[in-house]
Amino acid sequence: MKSIVIYATRTGNTGRVAAAIATILSAYGDVELKTADQVDGTLPPADLVVVGSPTEGHGVHPALASLLDRLGPAGFAGRAFAAFDTRVAWPHWLSGSAASKIRQRAEKAGGRLIGPEHSCIVSMKPELEAGEMERVTAWAQDVAGTIARAPVAAAG
Ligand SMILES: Cc1cc2nc3c(=O)[nH]c(=O)nc-3n(C[C@H](O)[C@H](O)[C@H](O)COP(=O)(O)O)c2cc1C
Repeated sequence: MKSIVIYATRTGNTGRVAAAIATILSAYGDVELKTADQVDGTLPPADLVVVGSPTEGHGVHPALASLLDRLGPAGFAGRAFAAFDTRVAWPHWLSGSAASKIRQRAEKAGGRLIGPEHSCIVSMKPELEAGEMERVTAWAQDVAGTIARAPVAAAG
């Protein structure tokens, strides 16, 4: 199973989460870890595309917003994807969620969501709260297991 993990980060936390997800996925096959800026207007071939961003202004980091624009209205056609974010520990309606925005954009562009959206909670510093790496590791295992049990044709 080939996976690609694409992320944006401002102060490193989302990057650390993305790297941890890539490590989990590497037990299932090849993994590419890329920042949003490193992806042009087409998603590389992969069975699973994992996309993550810090939540900023209730939405995604500008570099990820730019990538979603570049990919266009059919950029996720036929792709299995999962979405994660980092955000502060406010109620969802107050914090917003980049993962929700990623899901909406990717589904609209033809993607098929695998697993629930996942949020990692950071403090105001910002630093990942205790236990967040363990929670996202378990989530990544579930996502990988779902794809491994019922693979979709690799697109691209
Ligand atoms: C410009 C800006 C806007 C932010 N807006 C939100 C927000 O709307 N909701 C939220 O939960 N956190 C918000 N935050 C906090 C970020 O989500 C947090 O700093 C981020 O998850 C840290 O990830 P990073 O280290 O990968 O950049 C904001 C941070 C910045 C810098």
